[in-house]
Amino acid sequence: MNILAFESSCDETAVSVVRDGRTVLSDAILSQADMHALYGGVVPEIASRKHVEAIAGLTEQALADAGVSKQDIDAVAVTYAPGLIGAVLVGVSFAKSVAYALGVPLVPVHHIRGHIAANYLAFPELKPPFLALAISGGNTMIVDVKDYTDMEIIGATRDDAAGECFDKAARVLGLPYPGGKPMDLLGQTSQGGKYVLPRAHVEGAELDMSFSGLKTAVVNLVHNAEQKGETLDAPALARDFAQAVSDELVPRAMLAARQTGYRVMVAAGGVAANSVIRSDLEAACRAAGITLYLPPLKLCGDNGAMIGSQGYYEYLAGKRAGWDLNAYATMDLNEVE
Ligand code: KG4
Repeated sequence: MNILAFESSCDETAVSVVRDGRTVLSDAILSQADMHALYGGVVPEIASRKHVEAIAGLTEQALADAGVSKQDIDAVAVTYAPGLIGAVLVGVSFAKSVAYALGVPLVPVHHIRGHIAANYLAFPELKPPFLALAISGGNTMIVDVKDYTDMEIIGATRDDAAGECFDKAARVLGLPYPGGKPMDLLGQTSQGGKYVLPRAHVEGAELDMSFSGLKTAVVNLVHNAEQKGETLDAPALARDFAQAVSDELVPRAMLAARQTGYRVMVAAGGVAANSVIRSDLEAACRAAGITLYLPPLKLCGDNGAMIGSQGYYEYLAGKRAGWDLNAYATMDLNEVE
C-alpha cells in the first residue's frame, strides 16, 4: 500500500511516498530554516506562505522520486496537529484536495506519533510495545507506546520543550537558528565541567521534567558576563548545557523503563540527534540491559516519511478524516480519537 504523506507543522515542508508503513520510496523536503534564521526563530506567517509556495512542487518531486504515478497512491496522510496553526493548515488543506481528487482515503496523523514512527522506517524488527522518549522543538515527553495507535504520555515537560531550550540558549550565545545542532557541535569541542547549571525536580511527579529554570540560568549567565565585560568559555558552556538537558531526560527515561518494565526504548524528534543525549542513553540502556533504538539523524527532524509510516498504522486501525478535517495547534497524543 502506497501512502502519500504531508508534513508542514513548523518550518519544513515535506512530502513522501511510503510503502506499507516501512519502506520510504521518496522523501522530498524543503527547509525554511535559513529564512527564519534572519529573525532568530520561526515567523509563523512566513512559514505558512513558504509552505504554500513549496507544497505542490514537492508533491510532484515526491511522486517522481518514488517512481509512482498519482494512480498508484492508495491513501493520503497528513499532520493535522500539533504545530503552528497556519503552517499545519496548509498541509491539511492541500492533502484534502489531493485525496479528494484521487478518490482515496485521507488519514490524519499526530505529529509526535509520526516522530515515534520514524523508528519503524529505520528498524524493520521494531514493533510495539515499547517506551519512547520524544524530544523535539515543541514537545518533550516519555510515551508508553502500547500499540501502533494506542499510546499514553507518562511523563512530560511542565514548561519549555528541550529543543526550545537548546534554541534559546544558542541564541544568547550568538549561534544561528535552529540552535540545537550548532550548540551540539560547539560543545563537542570541549570537555565541559566548568559551569554549574540547575537540574529540575518536579515534586510528586518523578517522570515530569522542566527546562525553564535551565533556560533562565543560561540567559542570566551570559547577560551577567556581558555586563561585567567577561568572556565566557562558550564551548564549555555548550557542553555543560547539553549535559544538563541530558541529565533531565535520560534518568527519567530509565526510571520510566523500570516503572513500566519495558525492555525496549526508542528516541524520537529533532533533539534525539544530540550527541550527548545519544551517548548517555546508549550507556544507560546498555547498563540496564535495555534494547535502544536511536533513529538515524536524517529521521530525527521533521520529515514526511514518518507521517507516511504512522499514517499506514492509523489507516490499518480504521482512522479516516472527513473533508471537514481541521488543523490543531495543540493536541495530546493520547487524546487522538
Ligand atoms: O523534531 P524537530 O525537527 O521539529 C519539531 O517537531 O519540533 O525538532 C527541532 C528541534 C530544534 O529545537 C533544534 O534545535 C533541535 O531539534 N535539534 C537539536 C539537534 N538537532 C536539532 N537539539 C540538540 N542537538 C542537536 N544535534
